[in-house]
Amino acid sequence: MNKSKGETIRLLLVDDEDGFRMTIAKRLERRGFSQIQASCGEECLAILDREPVDVVVLDVKMPGISGIETLKVIKQKHDKIQVILLTGNVAVSDGIQGIKAGAYDYLTKPVEIDHLVNKVRQAFEMTRLEEQKTAQLAYRTKLEKKIVDTERLVSLGTMSTGIAHEINNPLAIINEAAGFIKEVITAPTMDTDSQKKAVLLGVEKIEKSVKRASRITHQLLGHVKRQRPQVSEVDLTTLMHETLGLLKKEVDAKQIRIIWNLHQKKLTLWSDAYQIRQVLMNLLNNAIHAMGENGCITLSSRETQGAVILEIGDNGRGIPRENLGKIFDPFFTTKSFDEGTGLGLFVVHKIMSDLKGDIEVNSTMGKGTAFTIKFPKTVDISNLEDKDKKI
Ligand SMILES: Nc1ncnc2c1ncn2[C@@H]1O[C@H](COP(=O)(O)OP(=O)(O)OP(=O)(O)O)[C@@H](O)[C@H]1O
Ligand SMILES: [Mg+2]
Repeated sequence: MNKSKGETIRLLLVDDEDGFRMTIAKRLERRGFSQIQASCGEECLAILDREPVDVVVLDVKMPGISGIETLKVIKQKHDKIQVILLTGNVAVSDGIQGIKAGAYDYLTKPVEIDHLVNKVRQAFEMTRLEEQKTAQLAYRTKLEKKIVDTERLVSLGTMSTGIAHEINNPLAIINEAAGFIKEVITAPTMDTDSQKKAVLLGVEKIEKSVKRASRITHQLLGHVKRQRPQVSEVDLTTLMHETLGLLKKEVDAKQIRIIWNLHQKKLTLWSDAYQIRQVLMNLLNNAIHAMGENGCITLSSRETQGAVILEIGDNGRGIPRENLGKIFDPFFTTKSFDEGTGLGLFVVHKIMSDLKGDIEVNSTMGKGTAFTIKFPKTVDISNLEDKDKKI
């Protein structure tokens, strides 16, 4: 086996006739082709199992496993490799059979070297085009999935916001009624009621569930109801400080270190500060929940011409790979009934989509998680007003 440097095409030359193979090899080398040689089908297949090759020039008539059989195995195991067959001049049928089995083309011996070089280049070009096509297809599939996911979440968002609105009223009535029952049952005149304890327990269950349902509607509607969207000059840095201020109790209790890694002090946007605060609140809350004591949260930023990109990284427990596709779904949570509703990231996703931003997540189990959020520097106000009318 020998190899020489030159062209970027990785070529494997397979022929059992040493003299013929060496001559072709030398001529190819003179034209700058890097190549590996093999003297039989078995050796060829062994090489392909351990080395990257783009094009195989393969003799059809060889002792042991024949060229056509070798070709079939190559196409089965390494379908991206192109194969050019070399046939005897009376064996055109071998060439045709080879093409049927997936060969790129065949040449008859004796081989005209420039003809071979051209074929090798064409075969390589074909590999590159196919790779590009595969990459484009994968990119399109990914993009289409993202669009479908976003549309699904946005329509779910609009629907659930409407439902949340409707649920708020009966929820308030249930809460008031539970309070009333509690008042009656704890009145001094009820002192001897033997079932008082049981009723009180029931009322407490109602109150606990009302609290959870309220958390859900609050998460969906936002804590403060606004009449109109407010697009103004927003400084992301100030918003992050404010949000962390609201979470100070939890941050201090777990002795979490906040590492500021911003590319500049002030990160200015024209956007909706209220909604951005909700995004930061949910992401920071999740980061805090994901870690025990002495963890750290890193806040990094960068900027492109039209956007500010923020990364909120934590060194918490991480998200299992199988959950990564579900975390933005409504009501997906790994937390207990009292701890989480599973709406935090759903709301974050909806807001980022409303603000024409983007969100991505990277996570490694046991190491931590980073959410990257991209805000356009200016949000179209008319779009936000339209959205507000729908609610
Ligand atoms: N930074 C993080 N580290 C580890 N897991 C996370 C992180 N962020 C989110 N998760 C996972 O994603 C799930 C969904 O998060 P999401 O914020 O939507 O809901 P939640 O935090 O469970 O409940 P809520 O936000 O309503 O209190 C979480 O239960 C958790 O399993
Ligand atoms: Mg959350």
